Amino acid sequence: MSIEQLLEKRERLLGPNNPLFYDEPLHLVKGEGVWVTDADGRRYLDCYNNVPCVGHCHPRVVDAICRQAGELNTHTRYVHVNILTYAEKLLATFDPTLNRMMLGCTGSEANDIAMRMAKLWTGGEGIICTNATYHGNTDLVMRLSSLFGPTDDQTGTIEMVPWPDSYRALNGLKGEALTDAYVAEIDRAIERFSQAGVKLAGMLVCPIYANEGLPNIPDGYLARAVAAVRAAGGVFIADEVQSGFGRTGRLWGHEGQGVVPDILTLGKPMANGHPVSAVVARGELIDHFRSNVMYFNTFGGNPVSCAAALAVLEVIEEEGLVANAESVGRHVLEGFNALKARHDLIGDVRGKGLFFGMDLVLDRDRKTPAPKETSRVVNEMRRRGVIMSSIGEHGNVLKMRPPLPFSKANADQLIGTLDDVLGDL
Ligand SMILES: Cc1ncc(COP(=O)(O)O)c(C=O)c1O
Repeated sequence: MSIEQLLEKRERLLGPNNPLFYDEPLHLVKGEGVWVTDADGRRYLDCYNNVPCVGHCHPRVVDAICRQAGELNTHTRYVHVNILTYAEKLLATFDPTLNRMMLGCTGSEANDIAMRMAKLWTGGEGIICTNATYHGNTDLVMRLSSLFGPTDDQTGTIEMVPWPDSYRALNGLKGEALTDAYVAEIDRAIERFSQAGVKLAGMLVCPIYANEGLPNIPDGYLARAVAAVRAAGGVFIADEVQSGFGRTGRLWGHEGQGVVPDILTLGKPMANGHPVSAVVARGELIDHFRSNVMYFNTFGGNPVSCAAALAVLEVIEEEGLVANAESVGRHVLEGFNALKARHDLIGDVRGKGLFFGMDLVLDRDRKTPAPKETSRVVNEMRRRGVIMSSIGEHGNVLKMRPPLPFSKANADQLIGTLDDVLGDL
């Protein structure tokens, strides 16, 4: 079947407005490591997909899934050792205060539970989030997710604060004054809740603000924002659905920011594409939630999912993928900064581990976002065999987060192709 026929069938069977990447959508049929292959046999360097974090179709993960699927798969109302083996291994990677977990299937579900847990624990309703984010698609979580359109939340229980950006900095401030200004926004959100008689439940943010555009976070901001939230009686929920599992060159995105979350949520890369998510929290929060809510999840924590997730953690450790993310990430950033010196369209280059944002602008002085040019770059890169996407409040940030086994040679292909595309634009 041709791509046109498949697209027609897709629209007929799945309905309209079903998002697809690229002007010429990709029909992928195979993946291996950092490569994906389309139906015509053409290979693409995958610089976008963080879900297959240990590499597409990693044999260890495939084998773990197949073996357990051939033995038993059922839900958590029967005792099974896989979930316990996984819990021990996962929880050992966090600060000791984060000592319990619950498993689910999607990041949305994990954030939904985390918000419910925070509300139940604090007796509050109010949640602080940023003004250009995405945390998922349940009714509750959608109320925070303004990145793809207005949330129209009428409950008065959501307060959005500006995301902490050092590039298009609030009021043009710098250094400590900038941190102060963003923290003052948190204080103001708390004050607005207080004026409206809404008790604070907490703050839910991605610790690297990935969907907002992966900013360089002003020094000390997150720790001070969390301190303000806690002083007002709220808890800190870190959405590590994108930032977790080595992506940033550290195992967890909140590491190195001087703060330990009360609750954190995991998803996407957790089982390399098999749908697994988690809520990890201080034991007392999970105990309180479980004591008050009869929570059951048919698929969450099943033996096959746990086998896949365990294999992912083992591969990350054994193949040194966190260190690889850190060192190859530095190499990519050096390359991107060299591109910035040559191409005026590049306003800012940002990165943490193997997660990169390139902010494209029409005018470097005014920092005018260039969303159309960003889309052209993404589509032209796809034509030349390198896949990536864009994100951010203005849709002008090239977003790149390849599978973690990305090598320096892969990086050089990415940088070289980007250089050519920007040159031709
Ligand atoms: C930061 C973040 N949190 C949560 C989600 C929702 O995850 P899921 O699509 O698995 O429900 C996403 C998805 O893009 C995300 O980027």
